[in-house]
Amino acid sequence: MKMKIAVLPGDGIGPEIVEQGMKALKAVCQKFGHELTYEYAICGAAAIDQVGDPYPEATHRLCMDSDAVLFGAVGDPKFDNNPGLKVRPEQGLLAMRKRLGLFANIRPVNTFASLIDKSPLRRELVEGTDLMCIRELTGGLYFGRPQGRSENGDTAYDTCVYSRMEIERIVRLAFQYAMKRRRKLTVVDKANVLATSRLGREVSKEIAKEFHEVETEFMFVDNAAMRLIQWPGSFDVMVTENMFGDILTDEASVITGSLGMLPSASIGEHTSVFEPIHGSWPQAAGKNIANPLATILSVALMLEYAFDLKEEGALVRKAVAASMEAGYVTEDIAAGGAHYGTREVGDWIAAYILKA
Ligand SMILES: NC(=O)c1ccc[n+]([C@@H]2O[C@H](COP(=O)([O-])OP(=O)(O)OC[C@H]3O[C@@H](n4cnc5c(N)ncnc54)[C@H](O)[C@@H]3O)[C@@H](O)[C@H]2O)c1
Repeated sequence: MKMKIAVLPGDGIGPEIVEQGMKALKAVCQKFGHELTYEYAICGAAAIDQVGDPYPEATHRLCMDSDAVLFGAVGDPKFDNNPGLKVRPEQGLLAMRKRLGLFANIRPVNTFASLIDKSPLRRELVEGTDLMCIRELTGGLYFGRPQGRSENGDTAYDTCVYSRMEIERIVRLAFQYAMKRRRKLTVVDKANVLATSRLGREVSKEIAKEFHEVETEFMFVDNAAMRLIQWPGSFDVMVTENMFGDILTDEASVITGSLGMLPSASIGEHTSVFEPIHGSWPQAAGKNIANPLATILSVALMLEYAFDLKEEGALVRKAVAASMEAGYVTEDIAAGGAHYGTREVGDWIAAYILKA
């Protein structure tokens, strides 16, 4: 198979972790005989510094012309610590989501046997957790307009808007994923307070009729936040709107024990983007200490979702699990034992893939 990948390392630890993801991808392509071409492009703070735009036109063109995008992370303290700045790295992320039509963010949350004791939750609560969070990514409060301040600056407002079409496409996708898994879908909202949630429920109930085999439940977001830590194993697929998803998916992510472990896929109208869920961890940049596994697992998702290469994706996952079993891991998941650098873990995993 021919694959054309756009590689957007971004800022902070982005370049180091993406380098490890690319090692795994190249190893898979070499092993299975796929023809890989790839091109790097700038985004985030690095792109603001170079061309004044966090998602430059040339980067967008490359993404549009590629089969998939491997993305690192964006963000830099010089912007975080200066809220007055008009151009910010995160705008690049939002622009990319909007322009590529990435309306769904998919985050699988699984536990790894060797990591269970790193979880902030008790072993018996987390063991066997296997859920998928699907977050709407291009609507709601983060994109709704008007947004701003009153003339005297003493009042601020944001607008939460969802159309039937936006709800339908994300909810239908969630049902489709539920069909491929344990056939249970939890629709998370705040329908007792918000008009957008009430429309969401109405639309979800209509779509549920097309998916009889799926057990559908509706849950208020406050209850879902509690249930995630009380009984994460009770979820299979969870779908929710943009801001609730932003918060709940981070909550769900710590169940696995490290932010450095979780991949995500953003899919929609154009090219799909695969990226770790964590940020650019600027304090660790260049230190060779960041955990590359979330990025490498994002490559596994890319192989499966963008190219339908199940065996290849499974091998990447197997290599990641093997590195953990062998204790060839970064400090954040080393449980006090020996630990290795970002590059060394990447090399180990690429070698495993080639040898397998
Ligand atoms: N998708 C994105 O690009 C994205 C997402 C979140 C935050 N950000 C940006 O990243 C910058 C830093 O934000 P933050 O500190 O809130 O979040 P962060 O995810 O960068 O780091 C938070 C903490 O998580 C841990 N961590 C993160 N990545 C890790 C890895 N690969 N291996 C091991 N541990 C890891 C570290 O302990 C770190 O202190 C900010 O500028 C923020 O805006 C970007």
